[in-house]
Amino acid sequence: MTMIVAIDGLAASGKSSLAQAIAKKCSLFYVDSGSFYRFITYRLLCEGISPDQHDAICSFLPMVRFHYRTARHFWKGRDVSEALRSSAIDELVSGVARIGLVRKKINRTVRHLVKHKPAVVEGRDIGTVVFPKADLKIFLLASEEARIARRNQQRQEWGHSAERECVKKNIRLRDQIDSEREIAPLVPATDAVIIDTSQLTLEETVARGCKLVQECWKKHG
Ligand code: CDP
Ligand code: CDP
Repeated sequence: MTMIVAIDGLAASGKSSLAQAIAKKCSLFYVDSGSFYRFITYRLLCEGISPDQHDAICSFLPMVRFHYRTARHFWKGRDVSEALRSSAIDELVSGVARIGLVRKKINRTVRHLVKHKPAVVEGRDIGTVVFPKADLKIFLLASEEARIARRNQQRQEWGHSAERECVKKNIRLRDQIDSEREIAPLVPATDAVIIDTSQLTLEETVARGCKLVQECWKKHG
């Protein structure tokens, strides 16, 4: 297996920002596994299937094909990446991510994507389930307050509605569902390096992450 850096953590703890920075600085392929859960949720929404219609979801899943290029998702030739961050998807995605068949499909796709490429992969269960033998595992934490403020700011930058109470409710709900689900719950791998980013700037988080990658690189020759 080629080198894999796994980054897991709570919603808005800084996973994507850190993973993208590491990918750029260390020339690694970048995979945002959460965007695949969002893409399936988007397709279900378009079909009018809700997360509790398990049978309908399982019948529909084989029809879902991913077109993931340069960390963006396409459907019918259109870049739908921004639509994947809508509040409708924020609300439904953790329900969809509880379904075993959905997880199986995404895990297979993610493993296939990085088969021959050194990569940095971020999500919730990358170090525990998807790549339990990853060369480096990082788990990001940040206080709820910091995460709400960051996601709020980010949503404003994206031009999406950013009602603080809605952001707070959604972050709490997803953290709870993701941590308590039966399959692949959000927990740090026992061998993960835990970084609390509450008091760190993004630059400080990136510096720590890159240092860990370089140390890991040296160890693996
Ligand atoms: O991927 P995840 O949901 O974990 O978080 P993100 O989208 O990477 O980060 C949420 C926001 O927090 C971004 O706007 C980052 O710039 C900001 N941020 C951070 O990632 N790390 C810090 N130490 C401080 C801010
Ligand atoms: O960016 P943010 O941290 O808010 O979320 P995301 O990484 O885009 O993930 C969206 C949702 O997908 C999470 O809340 C989880 O329910 C699910 N997910 C998962 O179950 N396993 C993963 N490896 C990645 C995401």
